[in-house]
Amino acid sequence: MARKAFVGGNWKCNGSMADIQRLTEMLNAGEYHDNVEVVVAPTMLHILPVMQALKVPVGVSAQNCYFEKSGAFTGELSTEILVDAGLKYVILGHSERRHILKETDEMIAKKTKKAIDSGLTVIFCIGELKEERETGKTEEVCFRQMEAVRAVLSEEDWKKVVVAYEPVWAIGTGLVATPEQAQETHKALRAWAAEKVSKTVAEELRIIYGGSVKGANAESLCTEDIDGFLVGGASLQPDFMNILKVTH
Ligand code: G3P
Repeated sequence: MARKAFVGGNWKCNGSMADIQRLTEMLNAGEYHDNVEVVVAPTMLHILPVMQALKVPVGVSAQNCYFEKSGAFTGELSTEILVDAGLKYVILGHSERRHILKETDEMIAKKTKKAIDSGLTVIFCIGELKEERETGKTEEVCFRQMEAVRAVLSEEDWKKVVVAYEPVWAIGTGLVATPEQAQETHKALRAWAAEKVSKTVAEELRIIYGGSVKGANAESLCTEDIDGFLVGGASLQPDFMNILKVTH
């Protein structure tokens, strides 16, 4: 079946108010097609001005959320507050939150279930470290990360999940995975979903690639099981529009 392509721009902890204006002007000048879902993820502080400035069909995502309801949780943002502000997406499990902020599989799974229960679509990030790839543990690591959310999601919940396979060794390094490497892991993830969840989920699940995606390499990465991209550095540049142009 034809899955709708998905391209996310993860702005991470970047951007001044001037950058936000430049990026929304760049997005507002772009062309968009029904078969490609486009989402950007500003910092929490910039989400509202970006939402107010966008005049094109580009969704806005949070980069994180809390796993409890609103309340006495200083510094956190509940899914209720995100939904109330009009957000439709949240990125969870990003390797920077796993390896820098030490978020565990279980914590990420709780956040994922809470976000889906609140009506958000979760861009669920997984991926292996360089030494795990080099020692043949890529699938073991990715399947472990996927299993943590499988244990808490219903089959219906998976309709609100976009999986982002982001080999940690390719993030921000310029060491993009080869189309063969990425396709092999995406195919294994789809087979895992067919076995552990259902064939229907496996066919419908968007599995996107992230890690040094640029306009120059995106087309070659549009393989059978790669349904789009989660873009970091290039999403802060005009090159993001080149990635959108070649994603199908
Ligand atoms: O979430 C996407 C990000 O981790 C990829 O970063 O800069 O390698 O495109 P980058």
